[in-house]
Amino acid sequence: MYILGIESSCDDTSAAVISEEGLLSNVIASQKVHEMYGGVVPELASRAHQENIVPVVAEALRQAGITKQQLSAIAFTRGPGLLGSLLVGTSFAKGLSIALDIPLVDVNHLHGHVLSHFIRKQPDDEVPEFPFICLLISGGNSQIVLARSERDMEILGKTIDDAAGEAFDKCAKLLGLPYPGGPHIDRLAAEGDSEKFKFAKPHIPGLDYSFSGLKTSFLYTLRDALKEDPEFIEKNRADLAASLQKTIIDILLDKLGKAVKEHPVKHLAIGGGVSANSGVRKAVKEFCDKRGIKAWIPERAFTTDNAAMVAQAGYFKLLDKEYCPLDAPPYSRVSI
Ligand code: KG4
Repeated sequence: MYILGIESSCDDTSAAVISEEGLLSNVIASQKVHEMYGGVVPELASRAHQENIVPVVAEALRQAGITKQQLSAIAFTRGPGLLGSLLVGTSFAKGLSIALDIPLVDVNHLHGHVLSHFIRKQPDDEVPEFPFICLLISGGNSQIVLARSERDMEILGKTIDDAAGEAFDKCAKLLGLPYPGGPHIDRLAAEGDSEKFKFAKPHIPGLDYSFSGLKTSFLYTLRDALKEDPEFIEKNRADLAASLQKTIIDILLDKLGKAVKEHPVKHLAIGGGVSANSGVRKAVKEFCDKRGIKAWIPERAFTTDNAAMVAQAGYFKLLDKEYCPLDAPPYSRVSI
């Protein structure tokens, strides 16, 4: 069985092929066009997907060493995401499934991130055991998910305002760093003092997150300090990055601690773009080691939006023969 995965929910066009043996290819075309605007421009993203999708799928098939006629099924991201971007992947997947007369399965992008830990490179690669908790942190989401099975997932807590990635990106912008700022903060934080500055942490009940107060606190710290010293940012950039990263990690782990108390699990995973952050990866590993929990830290290639996770999530739906009708529209918003 060969499954083609297609991902086009935001600004990465990706295609991947998996078989029962594991991953055969995972091709990602990132869109540089958004950098100069300091964020993703939806219309430009859709156009770039249209340009990229055919060559990206062709390359994924080539790297997998198969022809399109050998495909058994197509899995595509149906949502959540930018509607125009999703339409490109959805329409392409539908067209190809009609042309090849093979089944189509729709995948919830968030399920994909959680199930990215099931992507096998070798048939005997280990995978997480259910139930496990997944901290899903990206530019659009910050959620604590309880995965009871491949299909049964529950959101235990989520952000009530900004996502963790937005906190990284918006604060990075205030420091004059390019978009997306998360990786730049990560790099700078390695050279800075994470205790030098203190920023506000939210006090909200339950397992929900909030990052908008941190952003405001960061902004006010800069505003006040710049009045005293116009070169404050240049002189303190690494320390500001390190302190910001530490605060975000503290906020993430505080709720994660509560989550594992309320839902004791033996395995814990992270996923989404922010799970590429070196500080987050280290802190989650330590958090798990301290509690005797097995930590699942994804390969960096599977942290960002990728079609391998879509193909993997689609594989589980295919096993249940849960196909997608051809008139199914993409959805911009949907829960896990
Ligand atoms: O999952 P993702 O690729 O897509 C969206 O949700 O859009 O996540 C992108 C987010 C951005 O906010 C980016 O700054 C952040 O992930 N990110 C990072 C790192 N790499 C990507 N944040 C902190 N440290 C990183 N190394």
